[in-house]
Amino acid sequence: MSKVFEYYQRLAQAFGPSGREDAVRELIGGMAGDFCDDITTDALGSLICRKCGAGKKVVAAAHMDSIGVVATYIDDKGFIRFGAVGGLFRGDLINIQVRFENGTRGVISYEEKTPFKDVTLEHLFIDIGAGSREDAEKRVRVGDFAVFEALPFEQDGILCGPYLDNRIGCATLLLAMEALPETVENDLYFVFTVQEEVGLRGAGPAAFGILPDYAIAVDVTDTGDLPEHKYPMACHMGKGAAVKVMDRSVICSMEVRDALENAAKGLNLQTQREIMMAGGTDTAALQKTGAGIYAGALSIPTRYIHSPSEMCAARDVEEAAAILAKAMQEL
Ligand code: CO
Ligand code: ZN
Repeated sequence: MSKVFEYYQRLAQAFGPSGREDAVRELIGGMAGDFCDDITTDALGSLICRKCGAGKKVVAAAHMDSIGVVATYIDDKGFIRFGAVGGLFRGDLINIQVRFENGTRGVISYEEKTPFKDVTLEHLFIDIGAGSREDAEKRVRVGDFAVFEALPFEQDGILCGPYLDNRIGCATLLLAMEALPETVENDLYFVFTVQEEVGLRGAGPAAFGILPDYAIAVDVTDTGDLPEHKYPMACHMGKGAAVKVMDRSVICSMEVRDALENAAKGLNLQTQREIMMAGGTDTAALQKTGAGIYAGALSIPTRYIHSPSEMCAARDVEEAAAILAKAMQEL
């Protein structure tokens, strides 16, 4: 088992949909403790791990929240209707398992009389096997959050499972922290942000509390290597960490792009350039903090993002961590 997989598995197990990140935060705080000088949490819940130095302030940020669902209504028969926490696609949701914070398990299914092409989230429900509303309410209340439940695996250097987005980014930050020397010149902040999946809500306030000179987000990105992919994309799983050029939310600062590419070159590692046509990242919120901050991102090429079976290559993660650690020190 690779160290990357071991970290990912531990982090993915922790309950942490947007706004309910406490368990992930506690876990990461424990894992980061030995490798930084100071750990704080801001009012929104972002975790800030600082490795002190006298030089430039450099932030690396990974969101620790995941997508999920929230119970909105329980019918007479005990079936639970739900709302989306973050971006959900119906094709990823049919007959998959979910887990509520208290451990209650269930299955998401749909109203079969609706032609499948017309199915929306409103036609879906969670079945926890209850016989009635009263029965269901013993386990689940309106307002309770749930996350995907699926068994991760590692096979020939490939990882698969739920919430690589973005526990794999958190793992990357932890590995980068561990790779740092005892003393560092720059003032380094490893920030584990909240509520990215519901609109990049936590990263801006966390960065505002630091006002760094540079910021690097780490998150997953799409790959263009699947059959009949929706748009051509020069980013493939297993071909190295991706340096973000832009996505729908941000155009990255050249200062940070260059620092990441130069760090990779110095390590003799291949990188790819990433342009993601859909979706945004914390990079955008970091860049717009205060009077503006040089911001960029390092991405892990990941297939089936936001499904319970996301897939990436362990080597891309290891290399991303090495590049991140070096770039943070050289900026
Ligand atoms: Co996401
Ligand atoms: Zn993400």
